[in-house]
Amino acid sequence: MAEILVLGMAVADFVFAMDQLPDRAAKYRANTVETVGGGCAANAAVAIARLGGVAHLATRLGDDPMGDLILSDLVAEGVRTQMAQRAPGGRSSFSSVCVDAAGERQIVNFRGDGLTQDTGWIKDAPPVDAVLADNRWTAGAARALDLARARGVPGVVDAEAPTEPEVLARASHVAFSRDGLLSFTGGDALVPALREAAARLPGWVCVTDGANGTTCIDGGTAQHVPACAVEVRDTLGAGDIWHGAFVLALAEGQGEVPAIRFANAAAALKCTTFGGRKGCPDRTDLDEFLKETS
Ligand SMILES: Nc1ncnc2c1ncn2[C@@H]1O[C@H](COP(=O)(O)OP(=O)(O)OP(=O)(O)O)[C@@H](O)[C@H]1O
Ligand SMILES: [Mg+2]
Repeated sequence: MAEILVLGMAVADFVFAMDQLPDRAAKYRANTVETVGGGCAANAAVAIARLGGVAHLATRLGDDPMGDLILSDLVAEGVRTQMAQRAPGGRSSFSSVCVDAAGERQIVNFRGDGLTQDTGWIKDAPPVDAVLADNRWTAGAARALDLARARGVPGVVDAEAPTEPEVLARASHVAFSRDGLLSFTGGDALVPALREAAARLPGWVCVTDGANGTTCIDGGTAQHVPACAVEVRDTLGAGDIWHGAFVLALAEGQGEVPAIRFANAAAALKCTTFGGRKGCPDRTDLDEFLKETS
């Protein structure tokens, strides 16, 4: 089984299903609500566990009831949480998420408060086949990617905006979101921006672009891997599930382009189900879907 160190955010998401997203100072009524765990790194860790890998989640929490809620859900998902750092008196991160009838979402996030700034514990990670870091905590992500390099395993960064050049430069693989890429390079055309990012960074690069799929620079040329066509109900967490599936495929020894196909399929299946990462497929469902669609 491939083992992966995933460093970054773990939050609780309170997800409200609504006909339309709120746009005024008024009282809105939700059609239904789900309390789900979220956060880029935690969602990716759940995807890895559901898809048959072992995810060690290195995340910063407070010692508050929100932290208990976040951790209990991760443990129930089979994520290894021994590397979670709980700061005495700290406050864990949580979000209010509204999802409209078309599956688009609006998020208000509290990033947490009083969380550890120490990075010394990251070096104590167990042996792993790959590392994935989100870029919400620069010092921690840099440390985790340095560890990947020192151990000779892939070090992937989920490069959301705002990007941190010192994190990107340490990764063997940089997987940008659309906004992340354009915040790094400027401009508004994705392929020229991706070429510029490839020229400025030592690692392999790709960009995910929602329903438009994923483009990478492979062997010097831009290669587009279309998204899988599905009936979309909720895109919350799709990018995080994509990153978890992508790093798992690399850790299992797949090449980058097959890893993108695997990740596009995992993320598309997630989009068919309401409730953030609760919609992440397991390996059996994903393999079945890949067989049907190839
Ligand atoms: N509507 C969709 N239909 C099919 N696949 C999708 C859809 N939205 C996302 N995906 C898949 O998920 C991948 C990642 O999505 P996206 O680029 O939106 O991530 P993101 O910008 O990081 O967003 P977030 O992390 O907030 O989910 C896409 O490359 C695509 O393969
Ligand atoms: Mg993302």
